[in-house]
Amino acid sequence: MTAPVLAVRDLRVEFTVDKRTAAVLRGLSYSLEKGRVLAVVGESGSGKTVHALSLLQLLPQTAHISGGEILFNGKNLLSLSPSALRAVRGNKISMIFQDPSASLNPVLSIGEQLTETLRAHRKISRPDARREAAVLLSRVGIADAEKRLDEYPFQFSGGMCQRVMIAMALALSPEVLIADEPTTALDVTIQAQILGLVKKLQRAAGTAVVFITHNLALAAQIADDVLVLYGGLCMEKAPAAELFARPLHPYTQGLLASLASLNETREELPAIAGNPPVAGECGAGCPFAPRCPKAFEKCRASLPPLFEKDGRQVRCWLEEK
Ligand SMILES: Nc1ncnc2c1ncn2[C@@H]1O[C@H](COP(=O)(O)OP(=O)(O)OP(=O)(O)O)[C@@H](O)[C@H]1O
Ligand SMILES: [Mg+2]
Repeated sequence: MTAPVLAVRDLRVEFTVDKRTAAVLRGLSYSLEKGRVLAVVGESGSGKTVHALSLLQLLPQTAHISGGEILFNGKNLLSLSPSALRAVRGNKISMIFQDPSASLNPVLSIGEQLTETLRAHRKISRPDARREAAVLLSRVGIADAEKRLDEYPFQFSGGMCQRVMIAMALALSPEVLIADEPTTALDVTIQAQILGLVKKLQRAAGTAVVFITHNLALAAQIADDVLVLYGGLCMEKAPAAELFARPLHPYTQGLLASLASLNETREELPAIAGNPPVAGECGAGCPFAPRCPKAFEKCRASLPPLFEKDGRQVRCWLEEK
């Protein structure tokens, strides 16, 4: 087994709002090897974006990482100096944000942003960077690339902004790509193109991908492994094929059962009766117990650990041996 390029160990994140502290990530761990795709799935509010932002320490000021390690090629990113961290961001670990328009600078043209990105990480002249930027835009399927370099983000649709972000990621051939809902709100054709581009990057550069989505059907298309997040905790983690063939956690079972009965074109994660927990109000038991059809006394009283089973992990008392 090769050494993981990214290893998250017992990551804990809290938000403090109005002097109240709420735990949003409660000890998340996983590791990711070169060229592998891990899908992180879960309902809205489960902590997917907070997890992504904490990897590069881009959390809002109200949040803080209260424990754990984020090992990139064995080095803990949480103990790097700000300048050492800047050298990793973008270049070695790239991120595609949930809201693409927020990650492009509105007052710079697309061409300026692409050339700046290239020049920040490589020794390359401005004209060469501009030529490469045009090539990159056409590689991500933007027609008339040369001309469009002079346009501004507001002249690009959401899908095109997302493709610009992927073009930047392609340019840098990062070791890790973190893609946070990269296709939400895009139509199905563009969605397929973006997935294709992420796969291309993964294959061509051996990039390891953390693919965040609430859409299990998408996860099934792209992931090698799937991690199901709920209330800031990993509920189940398994190779994708095994998880979809035989989900062990009642939460995963619920997600998949409602997905199966869904009309194919619908995007939203189907509802399981009840609501996800509010951060900081999870109590002592399993956070899914209030909605779980199989919950019994112990589930409400104490939080199950992650049980290891056949190379999979599941946080459910029903799996206790
Ligand atoms: N700025 C903030 N201030 C306080 N709490 C926050 C803030 N951002 C997130 N949270 C808390 O963190 C939890 C997880 O949020 P996060 O954005 O990671 O969810 P998500 O899984 O990405 O959801 P979505 O599918 O809607 O993108 C939220 O339920 C909320 O309690
Ligand atoms: Mg999110």
